[in-house]
Amino acid sequence: MYQALYRSFRPEVFDSLIGQEHIVKILENQIKTGTTGHAYLFCGTRGTGKTTTARLLAKALNCTDPKDGMPCGECEACKAIAAGNFIDVMELDAASNNSVEDIRDLREGVNYPPAMGKTKVYILDEAHMLTGSAANALLKTLEEPPEHVVFILATTEPEKLPATILSRCMRLDFRRVSEDKIFSHFKSICASLGVAADDDALRLLASNADGSVRDGLSLLDRCVSGAKTLSRDDVLFLLGMTGTQGCLDITDAVTEGDAGKALVILNSLLNDGKEINQFTRDWLDHLRNLLLVRYLEKPEDVINLSIENIERLKAQAEKLSLRDLDKYIKLLSEAMQNARWSPRPRVPVELAIVEMARRNNG
Ligand SMILES: Nc1ncnc2c1ncn2[C@@H]1O[C@H](COP(=O)(O)OP(=O)(O)OP(=O)(O)O)[C@@H](O)[C@H]1O
Ligand SMILES: [Mg+2]
Ligand SMILES: [Zn+2]
Repeated sequence: MYQALYRSFRPEVFDSLIGQEHIVKILENQIKTGTTGHAYLFCGTRGTGKTTTARLLAKALNCTDPKDGMPCGECEACKAIAAGNFIDVMELDAASNNSVEDIRDLREGVNYPPAMGKTKVYILDEAHMLTGSAANALLKTLEEPPEHVVFILATTEPEKLPATILSRCMRLDFRRVSEDKIFSHFKSICASLGVAADDDALRLLASNADGSVRDGLSLLDRCVSGAKTLSRDDVLFLLGMTGTQGCLDITDAVTEGDAGKALVILNSLLNDGKEINQFTRDWLDHLRNLLLVRYLEKPEDVINLSIENIERLKAQAEKLSLRDLDKYIKLLSEAMQNARWSPRPRVPVELAIVEMARRNNG
C-alpha cells in the first residue's frame, strides 16, 4: 500500500529533525544528564514536528540500546514506538478524550507501572481542546505524577490553555521551518526516491509549505507521485496554485497602475488551473495579511506564512498606502459578492482589477 511521504519520512532519530535545533539541544542535554521533566508542553504551528518529537522523547525514555545516550531507533522498543504500538506510550487526542471521565481513567492508569518499558509516556495531542473541568482533573496528576510517568502535551494554540496547566509544564516552542531547510530536506528526499527534481521546482514547493514540513511534504507527494522528474512548470501545473507569489505579483501590477499586466497575470494563473473564486479568496487573504503586517509587531504569530513570505509581505506593504489597501479590499470584496451570482465570475474580478489600477494613474 502506498504510504504518504509525510508518514514514510517521519524522523526516527533526533538528528533527522529539521529546523528545531533549539529544542533538540535542550532535550538531548536533559536526556544525557538524566534530568528530563515530568510534563512538557510542545507548542507551534501544524506540521513542524511536535508529535514526532514527542515520540522521539518517548523512545529516549524507553530505548534499550541507546547510542551516546540517544535513542537508537532500532531496538524493539524504538521500533514499536515508531509504529505506534508500544503499550507504555499512549497517544491521546484531547479533542475526543476531553471529558472529566476520560481524564479520570487516565489518572487511574497513571498509577500502574509500565508494562514493557522503563517509562510510561502520555502524549496528549490538541491539548487546548480539553474542557475546563478535564483540565482541572489533569492538574493534580501533572503536579505530582509518579516517578515512571511523563506527560507531553502538544498544541497549536497554547494561548487557549489555562495558566494552571501552562505553569506546570516545561514549554518548548516549535518554529516554522525556513524555506532553505525545507528545500534541502526535499532535495534529499527526492534523491532517495530517485526523482530528478529541479532546484526551482523544490524552492517553489518549499515556499508554498509556509514553514510546515508536513504541508510541504503533502504538496511534494502530489507532485512526484509516479514521476521520475520534476520541473517548476510541473509544480505550477500540478498544484494549480497561485501561492503567495501570484498574489504579490498581481498586487504589484495594480499598484503600478498597470491594469494590462495585472489582467495577464490573472489570466495565466487561471490557465495554470486556479479556480477564480479560490483565487479571489486567496487574494483577499493576501490583502488582509498586508494590512496585518503594517500593524502587528510580530505578524508571524497571527499569519500562517513562513518567515520568508512574511518578509515579502512586509516589503510590499511598505510600498502601499493605507488608502490603497482599503480601496483594494473594498473593491475585491465587492467583486467577490458579485462573482457569486455571475455566470461569468471572472468579469467582476477583472473589473475590480481595472478599478484598482486606475486610481493609481491619477
Ligand atoms: N521538524 C521536522 N523535521 C522533519 N520532518 C518533519 C518535521 N516536522 C514535521 N515533519 C514531517 O511532517 C510529519 C508530521 O509531523 P508531526 O506529526 O510531528 O507534526 P505536528 O507538529 O505534530 O503537527 P500537528 O500540529 O498537525 O499535530 C512528520 O511525519 C514528518 O514527515
Ligand atoms: Mg501532532
Ligand atoms: Zn532503541
